[in-house]
Amino acid sequence: MRSKIVAGNWKMNKTLDEAKALTSEIMGMVADEVKGDVKVVLCTPFPYLIPVKNILGTSSRIAVGAQNASEHEAGAYTGEVSSVMLKSMDVPYVILGHSERRQYFGEDGKLLAKKVDVALKHGLIPIFCCGEPLEVRERNEHEALVCRQIEEALFHLNEESLKKIVIAYEPVWAIGTGKTASSQQAQDMHAVIRKHLAGKYGQAVADSISILYGGSVNAANAKELFACADVDGGLVGGASLKSREFVEIIKSI
Ligand code: PGA
Repeated sequence: MRSKIVAGNWKMNKTLDEAKALTSEIMGMVADEVKGDVKVVLCTPFPYLIPVKNILGTSSRIAVGAQNASEHEAGAYTGEVSSVMLKSMDVPYVILGHSERRQYFGEDGKLLAKKVDVALKHGLIPIFCCGEPLEVRERNEHEALVCRQIEEALFHLNEESLKKIVIAYEPVWAIGTGKTASSQQAQDMHAVIRKHLAGKYGQAVADSISILYGGSVNAANAKELFACADVDGGLVGGASLKSREFVEIIKSI
């Protein structure tokens, strides 16, 4: 059985005090209200990883994640943060290849393949993002593009490594726009991704990979999205910044 995961992507938001307050609120509500075995991940800005971890303590319900990591392990790369550092801080997850990184920081498949390798080498769990811009969907080339994104960054991995990856399908036109994919659009793409994985690694491996949906997930649409057979949870941006809404999303799984 693959894991159900709801990850919050805080992006570049919140002051330290706000981040701590949000964490405490989420932790309290998850402890009181969330049943079952859903994994919750808070992907915070780098400076908040340790303070947030300290609040979470030994809670096994909620983990932290970074939003990016370097393709290098160490060295003269001013401003960068490495997977080695994240591992030394006991940060289990890292988002790689978010569309905002692709768009504003020029990240491409070749670079992401390196980032994935370094993250896996140091025992992190990459949440690997893929997804198409609107014009690609309008040309009906979205399935081909997403399959290519996965091939470029992941298909060099052996089976054992691939099984450690979490995939997040995030159509770019749905991110931060309030315009979510319909549950049918999400299910269709998730099924395409799983089929593509199965073609390369076999059905059993493909069936073991958690594929999250991201893009304007909120408390009102989460239940329908999470009910899809191939949707194993969500990567949530804006709605993860509000404790009540985020916990309602977690409860929708
Ligand atoms: P959103 O962001 O939920 O605000 O659309 C999702 C994401 O970018 O991960």
